[in-house]
Amino acid sequence: MKERLKKLEAEVLDALKGAKNIDSVETLKTKYLGRKGPVSALLKDLGKLPGDMRREAGQAINQVKVKLEEKLDAVLMELKAANRAESLKSDVIDVTLPGRKSSLGALHPVTSTLDDIESIFLKMGFEIAEGPEVESDYYNFESLNIPKDHPAREMQDTFYISDDVVLRTHTSPVQIRIMENSKPPLKIIAPGTVYRRDSDITHTPMFHQIEGFMVDENITFADLKGTLTHFLTHLFGAKTQVRFRPSFFPFTEPSAEVDIECVICKGSGSECRVCKGTGWLEILGCGMIHPAVFKGVNFDSEKYTGFAFGMGIERITMLRYGIGDLRMFFENDIRFLSQFK
Ligand code: FA5
Ligand code: MG
Repeated sequence: MKERLKKLEAEVLDALKGAKNIDSVETLKTKYLGRKGPVSALLKDLGKLPGDMRREAGQAINQVKVKLEEKLDAVLMELKAANRAESLKSDVIDVTLPGRKSSLGALHPVTSTLDDIESIFLKMGFEIAEGPEVESDYYNFESLNIPKDHPAREMQDTFYISDDVVLRTHTSPVQIRIMENSKPPLKIIAPGTVYRRDSDITHTPMFHQIEGFMVDENITFADLKGTLTHFLTHLFGAKTQVRFRPSFFPFTEPSAEVDIECVICKGSGSECRVCKGTGWLEILGCGMIHPAVFKGVNFDSEKYTGFAFGMGIERITMLRYGIGDLRMFFENDIRFLSQFK
């Protein structure tokens, strides 16, 4: 028995010299010290020995078993420690590598156009006002000389909330709200969101307008034209072609619309989807405030006159940046938006 144990011990220690990695040591451990290994076999055979030898033999086997276990575990620990040291070496963080840049956002092109427009009018002495987006039929239509059965209601396809409440179709109701609560002289711009049942490459269901108006004694169409020409020259530069075209609005008389040379086809109009072949794109409506509007807010139209205008911010942004489809402003495609940094 003693001989067998010595031989077994020598065999294991010998095999251990050849075991260079964790896996092979684990294999050795199972092979010799596992349930089906030679040490277990020896222990099982103990029963066959006569009583007085059993005790001594059992102790001897266990001594060898414990010794081998300790030896193998020590080698395993060493190998694991070496492994860890190795991976620590290769996983070192290189603090000299450049970091990942976080990209800066940009203002939406409609926002920056709005800011630029406001700053031009602020320099001319206009003040900024605002009004509600959910508006009564009275402010959106009636007070602007558009009664219920008036054909002009069809000019703007309206989102109705109820019979008498609408999503405002333009910023013109702000004119009324301001005039109801103040006295001339007035010089106001009113930016904001407006809504219409419209969608194609120059129309979206939600868009932005800036209303502007000026009321005082002796205001004439020349003041309107001068103010808008000054504004347009500052925003687009002196070379851009601009035209005033006679038009109709129930709340102004006379009325006009202003067109800007289409930047997409350079005014040629040939096969241009943006200006529909005309070479021009409409950006605003304007005119002299109608006496019926003054009457509604108790302004004396014999004493006071005024002009008003309402412009489309998306249309102006389209023309500034040469964008061929107005709907792109609302798609939130980061590849499109990040070009405006
Ligand atoms: C009006 O909304 C009048 N309230 C303007 C006005 C104010 C006239 C004061 C006289 C006095 P119009 O419906 O034409 O007018 O719209 C004005 C501008 O808004 C248009 O010239 C265009 O630039 C823009 N616009 C109109 N509909 C849309 C739309 N669906 N999407 C984007 N822009 C639009
Ligand atoms: Mg129009």
